[in-house]
Amino acid sequence: MKGFEYLQEQLDEMKDQGTFRELIPLESAQGSKVTIKGKEVIQLSSNNYLGLTSHPRMVKAAEEANEKYGVGTGSVRTIAGTLQMHEDFEEKLAKFKHTEAALVFQSGFTTNQGVLSSILGKEDVVISDELNHASIIDGIRLTKAGRKIYKHVDMESLEEALKESGDFRTRLIVTDGVFSMDGNIAPLPEIVELAEKYDALVMVDDAHASGVLGDNGRGTVNHFNLDGRVHIQVGTLSKAIGVLGGYVASTQTLKDYLIHKGRPFLFSTSHPPAVTAANDAAIDVLLEEPELIEKLWDNTKFFKKGLEDLGFDTGISETPVTPVMVGDDALTHKLSDQLFEEGVFAQGIVFPTVQRGMGRVRTIVTAEHSKEELQEALDAFGRAGKKLGIIK
Ligand SMILES: Cc1ncc(COP(=O)(O)O)c(C=O)c1O
Repeated sequence: MKGFEYLQEQLDEMKDQGTFRELIPLESAQGSKVTIKGKEVIQLSSNNYLGLTSHPRMVKAAEEANEKYGVGTGSVRTIAGTLQMHEDFEEKLAKFKHTEAALVFQSGFTTNQGVLSSILGKEDVVISDELNHASIIDGIRLTKAGRKIYKHVDMESLEEALKESGDFRTRLIVTDGVFSMDGNIAPLPEIVELAEKYDALVMVDDAHASGVLGDNGRGTVNHFNLDGRVHIQVGTLSKAIGVLGGYVASTQTLKDYLIHKGRPFLFSTSHPPAVTAANDAAIDVLLEEPELIEKLWDNTKFFKKGLEDLGFDTGISETPVTPVMVGDDALTHKLSDQLFEEGVFAQGIVFPTVQRGMGRVRTIVTAEHSKEELQEALDAFGRAGKKLGIIK
């Protein structure tokens, strides 16, 4: 069919530059080892931090929900698609997050989009870290609010933006809790102090902190003892929680407002019963199996040290998200390909996901990995890195 030649040209250019990627289907369940192209490899690219994607208790909850309620809901939440279990789960989530209320969206992406696009008008301003996730950027693009971008985790730059925006009705500072490509943690205590000084609101996207940081994985706000001082906490149910979805934990007022104005919430069908039941069971797992988070951090320390001892640059990471910095986009993909040859699946991340020239192989260990698997992966990194001249 004719008409897409202009798109094909761009794809051909990416192929010439070595940055075109095929999707890579897994032929097994997610786990510390997965099967790809018939080969068993160590998985270092998932967000399955705690290994919950196949936790028996969650699988059982999903199966029972399928059996009892069927596989779909048949409607958006505001018309006929709210099951009692959706409400019960939100109540449990709010309690877990120590907030007044919580509201679940279809994904973390639509949560950011829905919140930012609906609560800000042209009288308001959003002040955003320059390395915030694409879903925050897209949410901001959908508002008529003023926009200010501050330098990455730079509090002077944030304060300047606050000083310049005194005339707006509401000033909303928005930041990732853990930055998804670098693994560093936002300086939330300083951000909150500045927000309080300038009477601004704070929104934190804890996609990579949910289930990872804070007591039982409550996130960065709890990690920094800031309960009650951050206005909006966004989390995802799709990474450490192991299932699918996003949520806002905040006040009843914000929840009620989003039910009426949050467009992805209003105009997209609710989660199937199995998803909600598995998410609900995941909160019990977080509360009752804290050893999973301990194991995640133990593995993280072991693997990070191993990479650093080999001579790799792991940037400014403080969490299980550990980038192996390469720089050149094509070389980044070459490292990823070489690792695959060596039995390790670790994807290269390049422009436009990160800035040009900042290519990296991003690794995330999980609580499921054994030390033997991690050592095997480190050995593979050593061989591949030397072969490509990335380390000596
Ligand atoms: C910081 C951040 N926010 C939001 C999302 C989107 O979450 P979800 O996968 O649940 O849509 C991601 C996922 O990549 C993320 O890293």
